[in-house]
Amino acid sequence: TTTAPEVHRGLAGVVADTTRISTVIQETNSLTYRGYPVQDLAARRSFEEVAHLLWYGELPDPARLRDFRARERALRPLDRTTSELLARLPETCHPMDVLRTAVSLFGAEDPTEDDGSPAAHRAKSLTLLARLPTVVAADQRRRRGLAPIPPDPGLGYAENFFHMCFGSVPDPETVRCFEISLVLYAEHSFNASTFTARVVTSTLSDLYSAVTAAVGALKGPLHGGANEAVMHMLDEIGDPGRAEEWLDGALAAKRKIMGFGHRVYRHGDSRVPIMQDALDRLVARAADPGVTRKATLHAALREAMLNRKGIHPNLDYPAGLAYHLMGFDTPAFTPLFVMSRITGWTAHITEQLAHNALIRPLASYDGPRQRPVPAPE
Ligand code: SDX
Repeated sequence: TTTAPEVHRGLAGVVADTTRISTVIQETNSLTYRGYPVQDLAARRSFEEVAHLLWYGELPDPARLRDFRARERALRPLDRTTSELLARLPETCHPMDVLRTAVSLFGAEDPTEDDGSPAAHRAKSLTLLARLPTVVAADQRRRRGLAPIPPDPGLGYAENFFHMCFGSVPDPETVRCFEISLVLYAEHSFNASTFTARVVTSTLSDLYSAVTAAVGALKGPLHGGANEAVMHMLDEIGDPGRAEEWLDGALAAKRKIMGFGHRVYRHGDSRVPIMQDALDRLVARAADPGVTRKATLHAALREAMLNRKGIHPNLDYPAGLAYHLMGFDTPAFTPLFVMSRITGWTAHITEQLAHNALIRPLASYDGPRQRPVPAPE
């Protein structure tokens, strides 16, 4: 008799490869990108600098940063064909479907050869970093019945995104909070969408195919779709006084509470305090009773979840409400996650290729035993 192999459902606890890009230091519950604590990067560095760090392994010096920014700004506009094709997608589809289709289109249109070299990959990654915000902003405006606003090469990455969405740039504090969310969302080791990108890459498929698949994986509410789901949940509860009663009902119905729990963190997501602090600043400056009520509800649900289940919020919990307060439409929240995570995905694609092994696990079969095929009746 053979003993059944040990099965790791959901690959929980499985170490699938090595990486030099990021890690969570368990003792201090601190996330580092290329060795730098993410809270220090969020406090002191721009999202463009973090993108450079993830791709090249080092923060850029001033000359490199100038060059990086100039290249990113030049790549932002969409060509006419792409804009027209995306504008033809039905408005009933989710903004993540638009983004997934956009990445696939970029792949079909890219005339440059994918020789698998890091240089080719970095060029394609920068193009995606620059163009995805243009797609997200145009799509949000289309759904509001508004014409797209072209990118402004005089503005930084975060400022330009607000400009393309709303036709204006908010106060520096709001821009800063958005930039902090981009830095925090950028990279998180072998999460489901990054691992998806690595699986596709491991077959020696191309970068756009890997990113298209990653967008699909991020869309689900157990992963990136949770930041959108958090806002729907807060809307459903409505009143801070209902938080506990709503939670008890939802838990009794075995519902997953969106924005809570994490596969890796059992004692709280290392990114939450930084994002919660940014959210608190947004709430404080709003001075609007509607905003205060939402913040009170948000805090009440967090406390109730900790009391009932001992489960902490993940990054999507404060980020969801923060994006709402910044004025973004709820279905656009997960696309904002994509705009940031494109950096981590592409860093992992390059790393996977540099040190490739086909990703192909085994399964423990528990279907019917071998049996004869009956003759057709
Ligand atoms: C992201 O991996 C990453 O790094 C992801 C991410 C990144 O940066 O890439 O951090 C981004 O995806 C954050 C997660 C966003 N998802 C959600 O907020 C959806 C709600 N959360 C969950 O469904 C859940 O917590 C997961 C999916 C995040 C993690 O699930 P696991 O590791 O498979 O854990 P589990 O579902 O087996 O839960 C263990 C226990 C269960 O109870 P028991 O059956 O043991 O009694 O905890 C309970 C669960 O029911 N539980 C929850 C819960 N999370 C865990 N119960 C209710 N609501 C929850 N949110």
